[in-house]
Parts: sequence; C-alpha cells; structure tokens
Amino acid sequence: MANSPEQPKVVILYDTKSEGGSTDRFIDKLGMTFAETGAYVEKVKCKTKADYSFVHEFDIVVMGAPVYYLVVSSELLGAIIQSNLRRNLRRKNIALFLTCGSPEPMANLLYMPQMKAHLLTNKILEEKVFAPNELSDDNIVSTYVNRILRSHRLATRSRNASMQWSDEALDMLDQIPSFFRNRVKTATEEYAEEMGYTTITLDVIDEAKAQLEG
Ligand SMILES: Cc1cc2nc3c(=O)[nH]c(=O)nc-3n(C[C@H](O)[C@H](O)[C@H](O)COP(=O)(O)O)c2cc1C
Repeated sequence: MANSPEQPKVVILYDTKSEGGSTDRFIDKLGMTFAETGAYVEKVKCKTKADYSFVHEFDIVVMGAPVYYLVVSSELLGAIIQSNLRRNLRRKNIALFLTCGSPEPMANLLYMPQMKAHLLTNKILEEKVFAPNELSDDNIVSTYVNRILRSHRLATRSRNASMQWSDEALDMLDQIPSFFRNRVKTATEEYAEEMGYTTITLDVIDEAKAQLEG
C-alpha cells in the first residue's frame, strides 16, 4: 500500500457527458502523470447515486468535470450534493479542476464555486481551469500534478510536526501490521487535527476509530 507523502494514493473523481471526449483523454493523461511520479492512482467516473466510502482509502482526491451550459457536469455535482461523498471527503486533501471553454477569470468566478461551496472545510491543495488546448499539454498537466504533490507533502509535514503521540499510543501503533500502520496513523492524525487535539492518546485513537466506523 503506497501512501507515504512521497507516494500517496490518489483518486480522480470526474464526470463527462462525452465518452472518449476531451475530458476522458485528459483524465487518462492526468492518471499517467501521477503514476509516473510513483503515486498509486485510480480514476472513478461519478454517479450521483453511488457509495463513496472507498474515498477513505486515499490520501489525495482530485475532482473535476467539464462545464455544460454554465453548470459543472451534473453527476459530479450531484454526487457532491446528494451522496455520501461529501461526508467521505471530510479531512481529505483535495485538488480541483474544470475543463471548459470560458476564460479563466470567468470560470473561477462562475463555475469553480459550484464545487468549492460544498467543500469549505477541506484543504484545497490546488485548483486549475483547463482551457481546451491545455488538456493535452504535457507541461501544463505536469505542473498541475507537481503542485498538488508538493502542496500535499507540505500539508502532511506541517501536520506531523505539530502532532505528538503518547508512549501508549505509539505502542499501540507499533502493534498494527506495517502495511496498514501508515493509514491508521494518517487517519488518526487527520481526526486529531480536526478535533483540535495536539497529542494523540489511546482515547483519541478510540474516538477516531469510532468515527471512521460510524
Ligand atoms: C453542449 C456543450 C455546452 C458547453 N457549455 C459550456 C459553458 O457553458 N461554459 C464553458 O465554459 N464551456 C462550455 N462548453 C465547453 C466544454 O466545457 C469543454 O469543451 C469541455 O472540455 C468538454 O468536455 P468533454 O469533451 O468531456 O465533453 C460546452 C461544451 C458543450 C459540448
């Protein structure tokens, strides 16, 4: 399971109405660009009514879609608003993108807030409006990916630096199989950070576990 800050698990949640169209091709390129950095990456085409509990497994969630008739593509927006996606995005580091024909300032004003308005408590690592000619540009896609990864590393380091573990909590962490330990550590630190705890004790681990399971 690759989930150190250098090799995060990334999921790309997207939508498009055009099968094999510009967004589909862009998603393939985006996935390959992440994979080339050593990240583990999966892509999931959104449906409004779906179970998004798998999002818990990922360190970075990249989300985006085209704009059609002034609105971000409906299955992605629908998933954010109507499914359990938003609940599963809590404490996640998120990157956003749009593919659209409008100039960037207009897209930032009119379209990006359609997603961001529902993600106010999330850390947004990076956001980018891709013009049609930018979708297949290796350099532009690469810059977007590198900015996301850099921002994720900084966010993870700053959390690690501010979070203490009690001796008992560290003992407990050591008992967890190594392939699963980083995931538990990250999830517990994310929970503690949200709750305003600066030290992780056995009680905090229990609370985090109960919340994840509930
Ligand atoms: C029917 C249709 C409506 C569109 N409406 C808008 C729009 O309102 N604003 C905008 O900026 N771009 C608009 N676009 C441009 C698309 O967002 C852009 O071309 C996008 O890359 C298309 O993605 P796709 O190939 O996956 O469908 C529209 C495109 C189509 C085909």
